[in-house]
Amino acid sequence: MKRCAILISGGGSNMVALAESMTGDHPARPCLVLSNVPGAGGLAKAEAMGIPTAVADHRDYKGDREGFEAKLIETIDAHNPDLIAMAGFMRILTPLFINHYAGRMLNIHPSLLPKYKGLNTHQRAIDAGDSQAGCSVHEVTSELDGGPILGQARVPILPGDDADTLAARVLPMEHRLYPVVLRAFASGDKTRIDLDG
Ligand code: GRF
Repeated sequence: MKRCAILISGGGSNMVALAESMTGDHPARPCLVLSNVPGAGGLAKAEAMGIPTAVADHRDYKGDREGFEAKLIETIDAHNPDLIAMAGFMRILTPLFINHYAGRMLNIHPSLLPKYKGLNTHQRAIDAGDSQAGCSVHEVTSELDGGPILGQARVPILPGDDADTLAARVLPMEHRLYPVVLRAFASGDKTRIDLDG
C-alpha cells in the first residue's frame, strides 16, 4: 500500500476528493495532510477524516527558503510517504525540495497547460477569448507548472463568464480528474487521462 502525503494551503477541496478516493482496492492511502498556513480550512477537514495533519509555516522562515523547505522535508518524511500530491499548495518550491521527491510528486493546476502557467488562470483564459478552460495534473519538476502532463479536464467558457463562474465550473472537474490520475500514477500507469465536462 503506497502512502500519500497531500500538501495544501487553503480549503483543501482537492485534498478531500483525493482522500475520499483512496479506499478499497485503491493502491494508496493518505498518510499526511500538511499546510504551510496554520488554521487552513483543509486541516480541520483532514482531522475529521482521521488523517494525520501538520503545519510548516513559511512565515517562520522569512527570506530563508531553503530553511523552510528543509522543515517541510523533515515534517513530511516523518510520515514516510511514497507519493506527494500538491493540492492548492501555494508556495513555489526550489530544486532542493523538488529533487528530493523527484518522480513521485504531482500537482493540479487550474488551466489547460502549457497555457497560463502561474496565477489568475481563469481571468487570463477569458481575456484571451478562449472557448475552453480546465485543469491539468502534472508531475512536478523544477519548471513551475511545467512537468509532464498526466491528465487534463476541459470545460467550455460561456458568454458572460467571469473568473468566479469559470472557477466554479472548473473546480468540480479538478475533483474528478485528480483522483483518477493519482490512482493511475500510484499503480505505475502514466497513460494520459482526458476528461470533458
Ligand atoms: C483550486 O482551483 C486549485 O486548482 C488551485 O487552488 C484552488 C483551491 O484548491 N491549486 P483547494 O480547494 O484548496 O483544493
